Amino acid sequence: MALQGRKILLGVCGSIAAYKSALLVRLLVKAGAEVQVILTASASAFVTPLTLGTLSKNPVLMGFLKDEAAGEWHNHVDLGLWADALVIAPASANSVAQLANGHCPNLLTAVYLSARCPVFLAPAMDLDMYAHPAVTENLARLRRFGNHVFDSPPGELASGLSGPGRMLEPEDIMRKLEEFFST
Ligand SMILES: Cc1cc2nc3c(=O)[nH]c(=O)nc-3n(C[C@H](O)[C@H](O)[C@H](O)COP(=O)(O)O)c2cc1C
Repeated sequence: MALQGRKILLGVCGSIAAYKSALLVRLLVKAGAEVQVILTASASAFVTPLTLGTLSKNPVLMGFLKDEAAGEWHNHVDLGLWADALVIAPASANSVAQLANGHCPNLLTAVYLSARCPVFLAPAMDLDMYAHPAVTENLARLRRFGNHVFDSPPGELASGLSGPGRMLEPEDIMRKLEEFFST
């Protein structure tokens, strides 16, 4: 109910957890949200634009350029202003570092810098990456900037290691978003 008619930009980064973004899109659409997916180039190796575009009912955006020959491009400023929320799930260590430091080498990171809406991040990475002080500091920095960073729950990781680093489950992300928009 709280997400009915909300405009959600979903950023998907290059993590093995990217397969879960398909379920997240499905749940957002079922909740009545309008979903626009932005994939990083790395993410497209884990989950296809065809899957996410079909589920979101919107063509997936990947690069700055739409039609290079015609000089058409995706306007990161307009996208940032369009959204009621930017959700980055999964957020990779690389993208977290870029966002925490204001780097914008791709469409997703440029949209983040342009967005005025609340930003939610669901980091996902292997045990020792997540525990690395560089990642801890970058996540703390993003929190200080006012972003909502979800803790990565412990459990079995794709590497076979066990501990924190998993992406928050799509159902739990939905609960957090619904809570946010109903208050
Ligand atoms: C099989 C595989 C799984 C990966 N899983 C993760 C992951 O869960 N989290 C992460 O931060 N990086 C992971 N990486 C590394 C990222 O894909 C890599 O850092 C990439 O540059 C991220 O790009 P992006 O932040 O632009 O999406 C993985 C790489 C491979 C090959």
